[in-house]
Amino acid sequence: MPIISASELTRRVRDVFGAADCPEHVSGRVAESLVEANLTGHDSHGVIRVPYYVRSVQSGRIQPRGEIRIVRESATTASLDCGHNFGQVGAARGVEVAVAKAQEHDIAVVALERCGHVGRLGEYVVMAAQQGLMGLMACNGLSQGGIVAPFGGIGRALGTNPIAWAVPGVEGKPIFLDYATSACAQGKIQVAADKGQELPEGWLLDKNGQPTRDPHDQFDGGVMLPFAQHKGYAMSVLVELLAGGLSGAGPALLPDYPRVQGAMLIALRIDAFQPVDAFREMAAEFSRLLKTTPRAPGCEEILLPGEPEWRSKEKRGSEGIPLPQKTWDRLQETAVSLGLEWD
Ligand SMILES: NC(=O)c1ccc[n+]([C@@H]2O[C@H](COP(=O)([O-])OP(=O)(O)OC[C@H]3O[C@@H](n4cnc5c(N)ncnc54)[C@H](O)[C@@H]3O)[C@@H](O)[C@H]2O)c1
Repeated sequence: MPIISASELTRRVRDVFGAADCPEHVSGRVAESLVEANLTGHDSHGVIRVPYYVRSVQSGRIQPRGEIRIVRESATTASLDCGHNFGQVGAARGVEVAVAKAQEHDIAVVALERCGHVGRLGEYVVMAAQQGLMGLMACNGLSQGGIVAPFGGIGRALGTNPIAWAVPGVEGKPIFLDYATSACAQGKIQVAADKGQELPEGWLLDKNGQPTRDPHDQFDGGVMLPFAQHKGYAMSVLVELLAGGLSGAGPALLPDYPRVQGAMLIALRIDAFQPVDAFREMAAEFSRLLKTTPRAPGCEEILLPGEPEWRSKEKRGSEGIPLPQKTWDRLQETAVSLGLEWD
């Protein structure tokens, strides 16, 4: 399994997007974002996406020169037309707009219209939390008709509809949740297929509606399941209505659903309520107490939400990022197809 430093991987991926005729700032932003996903341990949203993104640029589905502009706004809201640019570019701009408005008026909501796949949502809410705000993001999309069953159903109806939510945390590391409302992110099924691994039970049904652990069934008419049964399903419905609804994309089940990521961001200034340093001290004390809670057999440590990502980032930042051989080979194929050398 190749192990590669974050800086080297970022350079290579930036060059691939550059060779696919993306402007320099766009190539840099997308490369940084994908490698950040690998650093934080979410390989499903990392450089494994490069071949697909390049194909999307080539087919015109992603428009790397698409203009990103505010099309409607008030003091505390904005609709950002992302011009079918990379979601990583549109979402980062969305955070900037939301944070700037919230810094002035305490809270802001931004909807992202005509936005591409944003990748790992945690990145954007952490950007807000590192500036002393609460950040919340939800997205629906990107497949028309959905890929996840409703609770009790065996047919496709919903997106994987992720939610991320962050607050300022301890030692500059925000505390955050970041997950799909399906049992896993779809990309994890591709990663399992690449690694030749079986899926845990409860993630997937095959095309006949039967439970399966074979990741390949996903690509043969399979349907994913919501997490925590009715609880994940209920959150997913709200994401379709809010993120899909506010962004104008609508729910994935509607026949005219466009192949975009309907997204919504909320930024809230913590010190509109409490001094942010007092909030951080409270979070530190709460974290300390959480970690001293009695543990179940086999549990070595109680972690905070977000902690696995911070730890992975530290470890992979110093030791390098391990990539499955198949992911590396597909990156190489894409690079070579664009005339780049890849050794
Ligand atoms: N753009 C999209 O359309 C899209 C769709 C789905 C998912 N995603 C992304 O995929 C990624 C993975 O999603 P997922 O559903 O597989 O997430 P997951 O099941 O890996 O859960 C990750 C979350 O759980 C927390 N966590 C994990 N182990 C923990 C522990 N022991 N203690 C405390 N907290 C713990 C993590 O800090 C993180 O907040 C996310 O980054 C998500 O944004 C993106």
